[in-house]
Amino acid sequence: MTAGPTPGRTTLDGIAPDKLPRHVAIIMDGNGRWAQAQGLRRTAGHDRGAGTIRNITTECARLHLEQLTLYAFSIENWKRPRAEIQYLMRLLRKFLIDERPTLEENDVRLTAIGRLDDLPSSARKELDRTMELSAGNRGLNLCLALGYGGRTEIVDAARKLAARVAAGELAPEDIDEAAISANLYQPGRDPDLLVRTAGELRVSNFLLWQISYSELYVTQACWPDFTVEELHGALRSFATRTRKYGGLVDAPEAAVRR
Ligand code: FPP
Repeated sequence: MTAGPTPGRTTLDGIAPDKLPRHVAIIMDGNGRWAQAQGLRRTAGHDRGAGTIRNITTECARLHLEQLTLYAFSIENWKRPRAEIQYLMRLLRKFLIDERPTLEENDVRLTAIGRLDDLPSSARKELDRTMELSAGNRGLNLCLALGYGGRTEIVDAARKLAARVAAGELAPEDIDEAAISANLYQPGRDPDLLVRTAGELRVSNFLLWQISYSELYVTQACWPDFTVEELHGALRSFATRTRKYGGLVDAPEAAVRR
């Protein structure tokens, strides 16, 4: 017998809450292509993409998912033309201010991962303020990856551990998977589901350590066209997966770090 929905808990039609992912990560790609297809500037795609973040966050909160991690600005994105970077940073600042009431309304806590010190001070200030204002919210954790690189995150974790070894606080043989996980930017549950929009079949340096056993879902839809129905498609696909973690049966306790 399959578990029925928990009374009072919102879920997707026909899908038991325990079949939904608890942590969804998304590579939001295709803003530029979306804009180009409409005969618009790339920046129009980013504007529209910010609206998609609001819709998808609200739906993830409504479905009581625990975490939504969004690849909002990669460490490689610093290589983009200066004007586009400036536009994205201004948009980020505006987004962080504009979203405060929606975060509040939906009990969403905003957090961030990445080399946040590399952000312009105006964006960093609003990021810190929004994180502070939403820190008491107990629903969805909306985690923005900003100036983020998966390899850099592992390097930064290695440096933290190396410093503890150098200080005599930790023995090299005590460094294990749990120690590395605990020293990532935001230790916690690994993504159950990794979604990528706009069709590319690569992970682009996103959450390299954490996605070892994530289920993958790629859609052709560009991020500005990623609707709530598209999200439901990804969640429904996830609900059909059998997670074996290299074993023979579902055994999340064997491989999922918390
Ligand atoms: C990829 O589109 C998207 C990004 C550069 C990151 C996501 C950015 C947004 C959704 C804009 C709003 C974000 C915040 C947090 C305010 P692309 O430019 O790589 O598209 P392309 O591959 O089609 O060129």
